[in-house]
Formats: sequence, structure tokens, C-alpha cells
Amino acid sequence: MKNNRSNINPLSHFYNIPIYESGESAIQGRENVVKLSANENMNGPCNEVLNQFAYYSKNIFEYPDSSHHALRHKIGKVHNIDPNRIICGAGSDEIIQLLCRCFCEKNDEVIYTEHGFSMYKLSALATGAKPVEVKETNRTASIENISAAITSRTKIIFLANPNNPTGTMISDSEIEQLLTKIPNNILLVLDGAYSEYVDYSDGGISLVNKFSNVFATRTFSKIFGLGGLRVGWGFGARDIIDILNSVRSPFNVSSLGLKMAELSVEDVNFVKKQREINKVNRDLLRNRLLNLGLSIDKSFANFLLLRFANEGQANTVDLFLKEKGFILRKVVSYGLPNCLRLSIGNKDICESLYSALVEYFDNND
Ligand SMILES: Cc1ncc(COP(=O)(O)O)c(C=O)c1O
Repeated sequence: MKNNRSNINPLSHFYNIPIYESGESAIQGRENVVKLSANENMNGPCNEVLNQFAYYSKNIFEYPDSSHHALRHKIGKVHNIDPNRIICGAGSDEIIQLLCRCFCEKNDEVIYTEHGFSMYKLSALATGAKPVEVKETNRTASIENISAAITSRTKIIFLANPNNPTGTMISDSEIEQLLTKIPNNILLVLDGAYSEYVDYSDGGISLVNKFSNVFATRTFSKIFGLGGLRVGWGFGARDIIDILNSVRSPFNVSSLGLKMAELSVEDVNFVKKQREINKVNRDLLRNRLLNLGLSIDKSFANFLLLRFANEGQANTVDLFLKEKGFILRKVVSYGLPNCLRLSIGNKDICESLYSALVEYFDNND
């Protein structure tokens, strides 16, 4: 094709950055699939969002409010935090990218854990920083290993709590221990994408209030069921927020995204209910699968990580489930080749997935 290649060179550190690998969402030749590969809330968003979406869509000819004033104030009210210390982004992905972009220079180091969310590595690479992967202990973040990895070049430590794709989490007191071991010019980012699934977690907010070098990221993509609208937020020291705001694009969050997130954040009963439903379905499914002989860590999020005997078995199960219409998430790129991750669906989905796995193990042991 003419003009298929240019002679325009990108920044040298942009070469060879892997593309973010999202979970599969379709099975060739099959119409009705159950997508369990993206940790979405399959129950969908709260009623206010469903009822008011069409009404607010009439105004999409207008640019959104670039200051995100109403959403920041609503988040501030619900979480009892200063709205001026909140930034909104096109998903928390954007906040993660912005943090790297604003605070890392070439050859600075960004620490994340062995099976941590892949955007940490990709965002570090995109700024020319060096990603530093730290070993976990039994698929759980290790405070000792993180602090041992710190050097004079360390700028940011990313820690998802609960973590994706393992579902494991560590306590706030362990995080406080880590904070006593790190200089306060290193930013600890607590990624709370799944924190609403944990009834006793505030997603790092009290730690941000206590330590100026802690930053919390949150999302409307998971429990709030707004993944397609791309809204996330971050909470941190005022100077950090000001820098991020000066670098982000002005209209980064759409008007519908802002409005639907406003309606969602106020519906605290919806969040509570979704958390409870998820816990019941998740823990029941895990117990039943443990009884089938599968290995699965206790999960604090809306997904389970199934561990199989080896990569071959994980692949065979994946294919078998695809034939039944279920799409799970392969996590080879997370260093977990013998595992498959599955989002927790409603009761019927969990039931039919369990039956499919029983059938698999009845026929292949
Ligand atoms: C741990 C973690 N952090 C952040 C995100 C990004 O979510 P979003 O950009 O939709 O807010 C995800 C998405 O899967 C995630 O698993």
C-alpha cells in the first residue's frame, strides 16, 4: 500500500513498547457468549444511570466541564475528602499514565509487583522509565521485596489492592510498614480499582490523608458498571493534583461519563448491594471449585484466578469452556501461564460455569 510506512521517527524509547493486551471478547462463529474476561460488573450500572442516560444524551453537543467540578464535589462528599485534591480521568488508566508522565524521567525506576496490573509497566516504558518487577510471595505483594527493590532512582511504586489478576490483598498496616521504610520523595500509588468489593477498605483514602507521598486511584469501571464510559479518579496531595491537571487534556472525560459517574457515586446502596451479591456468588463458586480439586487463592475482588496443573491443562480448559460459550482471561503475560481468570457473574452464570467445569473434570481427570 502506498504510504504504508513513513520516515518519521518516534522518540527512541517508544520503540518496542508492547501493546496492552485486553481480554478476548468474542468467540468466532458463536453469537451468544458469556464474557468473563474483563472483571466487569455484569449486573450493569445503577437504575439512575439507566433511567437518565437518554435524557442527558440530548446535551452531547456541548463540551464537558473541563474542571469536572460537579463530579469532584460529589466524590468529595461521599468520601469526606477535599474535592480540590481529586482529579478525574478517562478511566484510572489515564491517571496511572499521567502519574508516570509527570513524575518519571528517562531511567527513573517504577516498581510494581510480579503479577501486578500491566498498565504500570506500559506507562513506565512510555515515559522512558525503567519498570522494576518485584517478586510476590504466593501471588501476594511482599512489603519486604518492595522495599528491597528501592534505589536512588525509584520514583513511583504501584500497588493494586486488591490486585488484578490475583485477587489477593494486603492490609493497611502492612502498607504503613512499607511507608516507614521508603523516603517520602517516592510516590506510593494505591490502585483501588476493586476496593469497593472489600467492605472494610477505604481504597487507601486514610493513608493518603496520613502520608503526603501516597496517592489513591479509583474507577467507575468495576463495581459501578460504567466500564464503557471511561471514568476514573485519583486523590492525593494538592501539588500532585495540580501538576496532573496541568498536563492532562482539558476535556479528557466525556459529559455523559461525568454525569453518569455523578449519579453512580451518590448511590451508595447500589455499591453495597453489588458488593454483597458478588461476595455470595464469588465465595460459593470458589468453594465449589476447591471441592473439584482446583487451586484458587482467596479473592477480595470480583474475579477468581483458577490455577491448573500446568499450562497445557489451562489451555485445554480454556478451549473447552469456549466451546460452551464462556470467555475467560488467559494471564500468560502476567507470568501466570497455568492460570485462567474469570469474572464473577450472576448466580445463573456461576452455576452454569460450575457445571461446565464439573463436566470437564468428569471427562478428563
Ligand atoms: C488493577 C486495575 N487498575 C486499573 C484498571 C483500569 O481501569 P479503568 O481504566 O477502567 O479505570 C484496571 C482495569 O482492569 C485494573 O484491573
